[in-house]
Amino acid sequence: MNSTFVIQRFIPEKDEAPHFERYELDLWDEATILDGLSAIKDQQDDSLAYRRACRHAICGSCSMVVNGYTKLVCKTPIAAELRRGRSEIRITPMRSMRVIKDLVVDMAPFWQHFRDVEPWLQPDPAKVPPANKEYRVTPDQLAPSRKDLNCILCAVCFSDCGVVEVDSHFAGPPALAKAHRFVTDPRDARRRERLQKLVDLGLWDCAHAYNCMECPKHVDPAHAIADLRRLSIEEGITDNIGAKHSQQFTKSVGRGGRLDETRLVMELTGITNVTGQIRNAPQGLRMLLKGKLPLPMHQKVDNPKEVRRLYDAVATKDEQ
Ligand code: FES
Repeated sequence: MNSTFVIQRFIPEKDEAPHFERYELDLWDEATILDGLSAIKDQQDDSLAYRRACRHAICGSCSMVVNGYTKLVCKTPIAAELRRGRSEIRITPMRSMRVIKDLVVDMAPFWQHFRDVEPWLQPDPAKVPPANKEYRVTPDQLAPSRKDLNCILCAVCFSDCGVVEVDSHFAGPPALAKAHRFVTDPRDARRRERLQKLVDLGLWDCAHAYNCMECPKHVDPAHAIADLRRLSIEEGITDNIGAKHSQQFTKSVGRGGRLDETRLVMELTGITNVTGQIRNAPQGLRMLLKGKLPLPMHQKVDNPKEVRRLYDAVATKDEQ
């Protein structure tokens, strides 16, 4: 099978800017992209730098951006990329992290976010069994974090997250999924403190692009983030803009069957907060002129009974 690899090369100490180099390969049909990189390093250019270790999608070392999407290259067949209509395999380093050399990035920001969420069990010492006894949990009790446990710290979702790219303060999908693993563990005694800290680390900053759903180990960080938000409201951690927005959003749909953006903004600011309302006015006017602000009066919903049915179904599910 013939293929062309186009790889970003960059040695900060030597190169002024990153540049691309082309490599022609003829490999067996099942070859992975990592096999291609190994062939280039062995036979064409031994100066090419990239990370890899297990070659079996276990260690999480070989993440890089392939034709625009971050992937574990040891798990990605070259043929699969070519079947997607790509004429060449274009490889760049992971995003949001400084390039050390070629495809190797400095993962310090990724690890720092992990440390921030304290990814270890913190049980109540009074409940910890004596030495040599297990602290048991049932499979049912661990079910909420089952997917989180699959994480191999590959940083694929960190690299593909658009919010991480523009906001270095945001903890990012992998650290939040890891936090979810401990928040939902019945043995952990710091649920409320953890959730409070997660709000400070950007729990409500996720913009729902769902790029993190492309996890090679099916961890589903987007679901973990949604669940952490729900749990934080359940714990009464509502004195923040994210929780207030979510509550007002729900109220608005429950009241009129649709989202009333104008009233949402007014209620978030505080109906009696005259200074805040005046401060919002210029932006409101600009939005109105561009047709992006619905008039603050009741608008008919096409099928109110169906909206009510869906609303009640979700509300009942939340209560369960
Ligand atoms: Fe270990 Fe790819 S080399 S996950």
